[in-house]
Amino acid sequence: MNLARQIERYLPRQLLELVKDISRQAAERGERVYLVGGVVRDLLLGYPNLDLDLVVEGDAVKLAQQVAETSQTKLLAHRHFGTAKLSYGDFTLDLATARKETYARPGALPTVTPGTLKDDLIRRDFSINAMAISLGSNDYGELADPHQGKNDLEHRLIRILHPGSFSDDATRILRAVRYEQRLGFELETQTAQLLKRDTSMLDTISGDRIRHELELLFKEKQPEFAVRRLAELGVLPRISPFLKGDGWIAEKFDRARRLKKPTQLPSLYFCLLIYSFGEKDIEKFLARLNIPAKLSRAIRDTLRLKTSLPLLDKSSLKPSEIYYLLREYEPLAVQANAIATDEKECTPSLIVHQHLQLFLTKLRYVRTALNGEELKRLGIPAGPEMGQVLQILHKAKLDGEVRTKADEKKLALSLSPKL
Ligand code: CTP
Repeated sequence: MNLARQIERYLPRQLLELVKDISRQAAERGERVYLVGGVVRDLLLGYPNLDLDLVVEGDAVKLAQQVAETSQTKLLAHRHFGTAKLSYGDFTLDLATARKETYARPGALPTVTPGTLKDDLIRRDFSINAMAISLGSNDYGELADPHQGKNDLEHRLIRILHPGSFSDDATRILRAVRYEQRLGFELETQTAQLLKRDTSMLDTISGDRIRHELELLFKEKQPEFAVRRLAELGVLPRISPFLKGDGWIAEKFDRARRLKKPTQLPSLYFCLLIYSFGEKDIEKFLARLNIPAKLSRAIRDTLRLKTSLPLLDKSSLKPSEIYYLLREYEPLAVQANAIATDEKECTPSLIVHQHLQLFLTKLRYVRTALNGEELKRLGIPAGPEMGQVLQILHKAKLDGEVRTKADEKKLALSLSPKL
């Protein structure tokens, strides 16, 4: 099958020219270049994907260096395993030397040696990700599909390439579900059986790698579907026995999406995902996934605040009281609790929810109009006294007792002699 016409239509002109230039330079070096992986899958499906991965039968790093020297492309990085990253305008593309991989033991990083395109495709996760398109001048656009990926695309199936695939690399368990749910596909029967058989292999994977896969999953449009499916397949309990993928999670993830920018969503999803954990159970989860300090703080705060919510369940609370109760928590933790308590039918939690919302939308942004310099000009000396004045002004502002700068001045002057 030849996809030359589709490539020409699919790739923006600038990017296409760069790809052709790379391929020309590779040919001069006696090397061959192919488009591989996700972009081939998405091109066949007609989905946009400008994350280009190129495989080079040859030396990808040397080729990338040469391309960077002779064009307007920049070499961003090159690493071990013969990989390089080029940038051109808004685009980046990854070049990798075709490689053969062997796994010394389950969960270990693979041992890599240079190989052919065929070697490079058979080491991949799923048939739909194991296709390539030649960019050589004599067979430009030819599809290489040794594992019937196109057939699986047509039958909407996620299929591993050999029975040992999940035990070689158990992150594929999470990847399989991510693609299945993103594309609306199904796990092929034997793949599903092997996935369930091998869930214990997740224990061989480092926390960083599992967390990274969950972060990728949380970048999907509706990650709750994948979370539910992971629960159904028995994968979640393997990561932590307290993880759930129920309707509550689905509803709260959906709510989170309506409130937060996409960049902040993965962290918020983490805080919601662990909402049913006890404070004691969370430490094991944080350690297992090696969660970085900032997110760990937000997660711990989410649960600490959850146990303190009854303190907010009083309609008589003044805004300043709400502020002092909540200011010590990470805003993400307050946000997670606001989403968790957003249940229309439940009156006590409605008050709690309203207080959390008031803090998030208003109270945490309240600042006094007067600053230290201006207070000095009013004759209030710098030091603890000024600190006290500023605190009283802030409290009065939170509670609506002062509104304008003039109000604040009046209050400050009236306080000063007393202090
Ligand atoms: N790959 C693999 N096994 C993994 C990770 C990646 O075989 N554990 C291969 C797949 O062929 C995949 C390619 O490397 O297509 C690139 O990986 P990645 O960028 O993670 O995937 P994409 O297919 O580009 O997926 P996405 O659309 O999610 O970016």
